Amino acid sequence: MNKDVDDTPAVSGVPDPGTRRRLYVKTHGCQMNEYDSARMADVLAESHGYVRVDSPEEADLLLLNTCSIREKAQEKVFHQLGRWKALKRANPQLRIGVGGCVASQEGDALRQRAPQVDLVFGPQTLHRLPAMIDAQDARAQQPQAERLSVVDVTFPEIEKFDHLPEPRADGASAFVSVMEGCSKYCSFCVVPYTRGEEVSRPVDSVIDEVRSLAGQGVREVNLLGQNVNAYRGAIDDDTADLAELIYYVADVPGVDRIRFTTSHPMEFGESLVRAYAEVRELATHLHLPVQSGSDAVLARMKRGHTADDYRRLIDRIRVARPGIALSSDFIVGFPGETEADFRATLELVKDINFDLSFSFVYSARPGTPAAALEDPVPEAEKKAWLAELQAQLRRQSDVYAEAMVGTVQRVLVTGPAKKDDACFAARTENNRVVNVPLPADASSRPDGFVDVRITEALPNSLRGVLCV
Ligand code: SAH
Ligand code: F3S
Repeated sequence: MNKDVDDTPAVSGVPDPGTRRRLYVKTHGCQMNEYDSARMADVLAESHGYVRVDSPEEADLLLLNTCSIREKAQEKVFHQLGRWKALKRANPQLRIGVGGCVASQEGDALRQRAPQVDLVFGPQTLHRLPAMIDAQDARAQQPQAERLSVVDVTFPEIEKFDHLPEPRADGASAFVSVMEGCSKYCSFCVVPYTRGEEVSRPVDSVIDEVRSLAGQGVREVNLLGQNVNAYRGAIDDDTADLAELIYYVADVPGVDRIRFTTSHPMEFGESLVRAYAEVRELATHLHLPVQSGSDAVLARMKRGHTADDYRRLIDRIRVARPGIALSSDFIVGFPGETEADFRATLELVKDINFDLSFSFVYSARPGTPAAALEDPVPEAEKKAWLAELQAQLRRQSDVYAEAMVGTVQRVLVTGPAKKDDACFAARTENNRVVNVPLPADASSRPDGFVDVRITEALPNSLRGVLCV
């Protein structure tokens, strides 16, 4: 989005620019939270003319979109709220809202621990923010009235998507949430409790959003869901699975690359494997979390498959799409994990030869079944395992990056380079950032997809030159 352009929709009742309300949103956690934060800004722009600002000091409404997937993420919330408390002391009119998974889990308890918070809403009630703000405005009109705090962390099914304004594109790549929640109940994970069970958006609603984004210049769509390949969206009197949805999305004019995050091996049916053979727009990259290479640990995690099931699935996907880049999530130090279990994970990592991946030390989450398991593994051992796993993953991804040097890649231009004004940034199909010098004669940076020859592999990015 061009930040110089005033793109706030013209809505009656919106105050003039001098008195416009200013919103600051801070996002913790996953891509779904990023998507939700953008929707919060959209609804509040439409309802009250809120404009988004870049620093909390400038704002009169601060929203924190939280994550509770691991203990560290949760702690960050209270640190952040502590910092905002000082701003509120300086400006008592300042309103603070907390959304996302910590809000969902804590509800009213959050306000008791952090009384500076005025609004608590969950991932599925963010569309009700305007009504919450109205209720507070009405209360503020009454003389002597106490400040009104609002808490709404219910799961009103898929109602949210019916109440959101048309999304505004921000660049050539966009997230589109296609389902909410998760019904897998992996024994370590809070998501089913904080985001509720799986609910899919109807196909038409997703396609309308994709069309609108493509009309605004979006070329890459990332279909999002906590368990996205469990998607079963209504279409006519039937339902479509994720593979079918992908065919529809690929048909939208302008959409040239499709990704989806995050999928589960047990939901990876034949139709989705076939899509890799048939849908050119589907990126040659797949993030498919496996968590562990040990069958005993996978069983205690309630993942529903073995390490060999995963290997066989990857074999089929590789037949459908040769050369596909694979990434994964891993948890080390699950309760009762042994040295042999950990070695089995390393074995799987080498066998599959994963590219860039994420790995974490297990973090006990209150209310999940795994939190009740005995956990005799010392923290120091878990940390040593994590370091060993990460070193192996790093070696593998470095080899992939080195092998790209000298090749020509079709990359999607994403914006200016972060650290170098003379470069633009783009993303490769296997999800790497590549920084490319602007050609000397170019008056502006290129748009959409361009061909780039990779010249150098750096630790966290690539460099390349534009092919002419
Ligand atoms: N489907 C989700 C995955 C859940 S969260 C998604 O779309 O991202 C992302 C990753 O966090 C998981 O794959 C898992 O590796 C990790 N994770 C989840 N719960 C965890 C816990 N209790 N401790 C450590 N890591 C965890
Ligand atoms: Fe969590 Fe397992 Fe669902 S990791 S999001 S319960 S697939």
